[in-house]
Amino acid sequence: MEQYVIKGGIPLVGEVEIGGAKNAALAILAASVMTDETVTIENLPNVRDINVLLGAMEGIGAKIDRIDAHTVKVNGSMIKELCVEYEYIKKIRASYYLLGALLGKYNHAEVALPGGCDIGSRPIDLHLKGFRALGADVRIQHGLITAQADHLHGTHVYMDKVSVGATINIMMAASMADGKTIIENAAKEPHVVDVANFLNSMGARIRGAGTDVIRIVGVERLHGTEYSIIPDQIEAGTFMFAAAATRGDVTVKNVIPKHLEATSAKLIEVGCEVEEFDDAVRVVCSRPMRHTQVTTLPYPGFPTDMQPQMSVILGIAQGTSTVTESIFENRFRYVDELTRMGANIKVESNIAIINGVEGYTGARVNAPDLRAGAALVIAGLSAEGITIVDDIYYIERGYEDFEKKLSELGAQIEKVSSEKEIQKFTLKVG
Ligand code: UD1
Repeated sequence: MEQYVIKGGIPLVGEVEIGGAKNAALAILAASVMTDETVTIENLPNVRDINVLLGAMEGIGAKIDRIDAHTVKVNGSMIKELCVEYEYIKKIRASYYLLGALLGKYNHAEVALPGGCDIGSRPIDLHLKGFRALGADVRIQHGLITAQADHLHGTHVYMDKVSVGATINIMMAASMADGKTIIENAAKEPHVVDVANFLNSMGARIRGAGTDVIRIVGVERLHGTEYSIIPDQIEAGTFMFAAAATRGDVTVKNVIPKHLEATSAKLIEVGCEVEEFDDAVRVVCSRPMRHTQVTTLPYPGFPTDMQPQMSVILGIAQGTSTVTESIFENRFRYVDELTRMGANIKVESNIAIINGVEGYTGARVNAPDLRAGAALVIAGLSAEGITIVDDIYYIERGYEDFEKKLSELGAQIEKVSSEKEIQKFTLKVG
C-alpha cells in the first residue's frame, strides 16, 4: 500500500501544468466506440480511472492503441461483446457511459449495475428513465442492467434532478436515435459541453450543450475524428487551493479560467488574490484567510468535487464558516481525519460548521475518497510537522503525478510504500 508522506509548512511557489479533464475523458472514451472508424483522443489524463475504462473497452473488443501517455487511438469496429463486466464497474462507476454508447450504436447494451459508493447512495434512475423514453426496454436482473430496443426514437426528457452522468448518457444514445430529442433541465458542466463537441466532431447533431435545454437530431452513423480534451477544472482548483492553504504564489497553467469562476470567487472571498490570464490563473495568498459560506451546486455553482478542498482552507481561515453539501449525502467522511490534524468542524446533516484554527498539525490520516484524499494532502502541505496520507490509491484515480507536480512547486512530499521509507523521509527533512 502506498502513502504520501509530507513535511508541511512550505509555501507553494511556481507554475503547474494542468492535464485533461478526467470526467470529460471518461465519457469521450466511451463515446469513441460509437463509430467503426478510428478516433484519436489527445490530452487524456494518465490516471487510474482512465486506464480501467480502457480495459473495459478492450474487454468488449474495442482496439486501443496507446500512442503516448496522453494520446490514444480507439477503433470500435471489432466490438462483439455488448456486456460490460462488474469487474470494471466496481472499480469505476463511469463505465456506465458504455450503456448509452452501446445502446445508441447497437440498440443493445448490458452493463453491471454500479455498486454502493463512498460518497453516498448514487442512483442511476435518471439514466434509465432517459433510455426508456428513447424506446428501450430496460431491465435490471442478476446485477446487470440490460437495455434493448428495436430502434431508438427521439423523445422529450425532463431531468427531475440535474445529473451530469444522465445528461451525457442520454445525449450519447439520442445521437443515434431516429428523430429529435430534447433534454430539459440538462447539466451544464464544461464536460457535458466537451462530450457534445466531441460527438459533433464525429458527425452528431447536438445543440444547446452548456444550457439547460439540449437538442439532438439523431444521425444514422458517426465517423472518426481527432479530438483534444479540455483541461481539468478540478485538478486546477485543487492546486489553486493548495496555493492558498500554504500561503503561496502559484500560476496554474493550461486552464480555461471561465470554468474556474466559482473556485476563484471563493478564493477572493477568503482574501486571496486571483489573477486571470488567457489560459492560466495565478493565486497569491499573502494575508490570513477569513471565513465564508459555500454551498455546492451544479455548474456554474461551486463544484461538489471541490468541497473537501474548500473545507480544508476554511478550517484555517479566521472565524466561523459553513459548507453546505447539496449534491451528495455522504461527502464529509474526511472531517474526522481533518479533526485529527487539529480542525474544529461539526457536521449537522449536510452542513459542516467550521471554526477556523491557527493551523493544522501533521498526523497519520486515511484518504476516504478521491477528492477528500487530495484535500487531506493540502492540509498536510499547510500543517506543522509530518503528515502521512494512507490509501492514496483513491487520489491516483484522478490526479496524474500529484506528488511530482507538488514537489516542483517546492512541497516536501514523497510517495512511499513502507515504514522504513517514511522514517528515511523524516530523517531527510529533519
Ligand atoms: C459526476 C462526476 C462527479 C461529480 C458529479 C457532480 C463523473 C465521472 N463524475 O458524477 O465527479 O461529483 O458529477 O458534479 O463525471 N442522481 C439521481 N439519479 C440519477 C443520477 C443522479 O438521483 O440517475 C443524483 C445523484 O445522486 C446526485 C445528483 O443527482 O445527488 C448529481 O449526480 P450526477 O451529476 O449524476 O453525478 P455523476 O454523473 O455520478
